[in-house]
Amino acid sequence: MADSHSHHDLDYLTSLSTHFSRLPNFGSEPGQEKYDVVAAIDFGTSFSGFAFSFNHRDGSEEIYMNREWGSAQGYSTLKTPTCLLLNPYKKFVKFGFEAAEKYAELEDAKDKKFYCFDRFKMMLHGSEATLNRNSLLHARNGKPMRALDIFSKALAFLKDKALERIHKQSGVEYTAKEVRWVVTVPAIWKQSAKQFMREAAYEAGLSSSINSDQVIIALEPEAAAVYCRQRKLREFVEEKGDEIVKDTLVPTKTQYLVIDNGGGTMDITAHEIEDGDTINEIYHATGGEFGGTKVDKEFQDQLDQIFGKIFMNEFRRAHPSDWLELMNDFEVKKRSDRVMTGEITRIRLPANFINLLRHESEGNYNAIIKKHLGKDYDDEEVKISKDYLCLGPRTMKRLFEPAITSIVDHLKDLLKEKDLREVKLLFLVGGFSESPLLQARIREVFNRKYSILIPNDAQTAVVKGAVMFGKRPEIVVERCLSETYGTEIYQEFIPHYHDFRKMVMIEGEAMCKDIFSILAKENEKVKRGQYKKTFKYNPVRRSQTAVSFSFYTSRTPNVRYITDEGVRKLPGYFTVASPDTSKGTNRSIELRLYFETELKVVGMDLETGNQASTHIDFLSQMV
Ligand SMILES: Nc1ncnc2c1ncn2[C@@H]1O[C@H](COP(=O)(O)OP(=O)(O)OP(=O)(O)O)[C@@H](O)[C@H]1O
Ligand SMILES: [Mg+2]
Repeated sequence: MADSHSHHDLDYLTSLSTHFSRLPNFGSEPGQEKYDVVAAIDFGTSFSGFAFSFNHRDGSEEIYMNREWGSAQGYSTLKTPTCLLLNPYKKFVKFGFEAAEKYAELEDAKDKKFYCFDRFKMMLHGSEATLNRNSLLHARNGKPMRALDIFSKALAFLKDKALERIHKQSGVEYTAKEVRWVVTVPAIWKQSAKQFMREAAYEAGLSSSINSDQVIIALEPEAAAVYCRQRKLREFVEEKGDEIVKDTLVPTKTQYLVIDNGGGTMDITAHEIEDGDTINEIYHATGGEFGGTKVDKEFQDQLDQIFGKIFMNEFRRAHPSDWLELMNDFEVKKRSDRVMTGEITRIRLPANFINLLRHESEGNYNAIIKKHLGKDYDDEEVKISKDYLCLGPRTMKRLFEPAITSIVDHLKDLLKEKDLREVKLLFLVGGFSESPLLQARIREVFNRKYSILIPNDAQTAVVKGAVMFGKRPEIVVERCLSETYGTEIYQEFIPHYHDFRKMVMIEGEAMCKDIFSILAKENEKVKRGQYKKTFKYNPVRRSQTAVSFSFYTSRTPNVRYITDEGVRKLPGYFTVASPDTSKGTNRSIELRLYFETELKVVGMDLETGNQASTHIDFLSQMV
């Protein structure tokens, strides 16, 4: 067929056209919802939950959540810790509060065989170059397991729990097939991680790849935006009034940021409202690994300082369930607004902690603290009273400082971008946005230039918004690409412009190899339901009967060669047959790019109509 299967047989013509065209039959039309129920799963770094709603003919928009997480442990929350426990045969045991509790008991009994995973969502961020279907995660006992299995077991649990609650609410026993599922992911995740979540959803039985439309992968800040805009003003911290936000504060052409401050990450998206109330993304998602769990980390470091590392390690080793109890109490206390009012925060120390400390200090606890803290010792700020560790407001504030500073600094830098000059409004969502300290600091820094809106239920804005998004997926019409994509081509060699080391002779002509031809650039806008036509390419050799394409991403849009730093080859490849060689190298091959969860590329030989296509499968391993 082809004279050569080498993917070097490409040439670059000129940019004849590069524009968008409408795709037929893509996406669901409004008002044609075929599922009775929409359920969204918010799989968080620290906490997970779900919400659902019915597509009643009466138009009821009520959104339901499970309010009973952790009731057996004395909590009653809308989300449960993202903690999965499997038995030694890797079978599901428990999820959430119960998993954490059970595992701590097993650790107390010195078990090393059960698998416990927590905070594992973080693994998908920043690992895009290596992430694949066989990527492994290590359990707390150090044993490895396939990450895809871990994610799918967690999703399967949340799915079953959601179906159970849907049954309770409606009296109807729906199966997973009858539900439209929405799974949320951070906007800053790269394509590979988003695809990973989709495949985990299939493996969990939410749907199958044949019925891929049934699962929507929604971006967390997009979902939150949908939620916030439909709220009444009085549903936001410090705001009053019955007006709906979208009518009063976000009319057409308004630009705003949605800032999702979660446990593990901060995730920011910039939007503009279009006519007809749809959302366009105006800047690619940004953020970083700073969230509420940074405060927990600071607390742990603080404990090491107060009681000494050796003591703390011994306590954690000897009494895992007491350690869990201590951290759980901190989780509750860190949410109080005592720091704001200058009061002391009291954290309960488990009996085993006190016993161990008594042993160490012969009963004089505060002398031990004084010894460890040295000149930093201040009995107003750190002391033990009864069974409580009492921390003063200055010490508590210090625990929040690194997380809050990272968040504020990132926002300051981001808002300097010229594309974001028109932004007027900041929505703060995610659990960490409920922190009074964070709220106060953001207001202090940004209040003069921006309106700051924080929904009272910031920690559930994402999951509730995801349900609303599931009912109207057409609401988001334009997204910004977070990566630059390209293909490898040859160009006519231009001395002093091209790198001479890249020069090769083909059919008597000097050509430049390894050129990264950009197909779509970072920050470029992609409309839902449309594809992008790229440049036309032509063959390098006159008699060549096929042209091969391989694909790359680049970390920066300023890229020239596929050998540049930050360029990564993608696991997708195809060969377009071009059997009619009568025009020699003067034949055109066009590429079309479809952006869905995966990136699909279709190549067409314009002379003969021959087509080839590939789904860039971001999870398959490179050979
Ligand atoms: N009132 C509060 N004050 C301080 N921190 C809080 C408060 N409420 C929640 N948090 C913190 O917010 C974090 C959880 O937020 P959220 O539930 O949005 O995270 P997540 O969805 O699990 O994480 P991510 O979005 O990063 O995947 C936790 O670290 C929690 O301690
Ligand atoms: Mg979240």
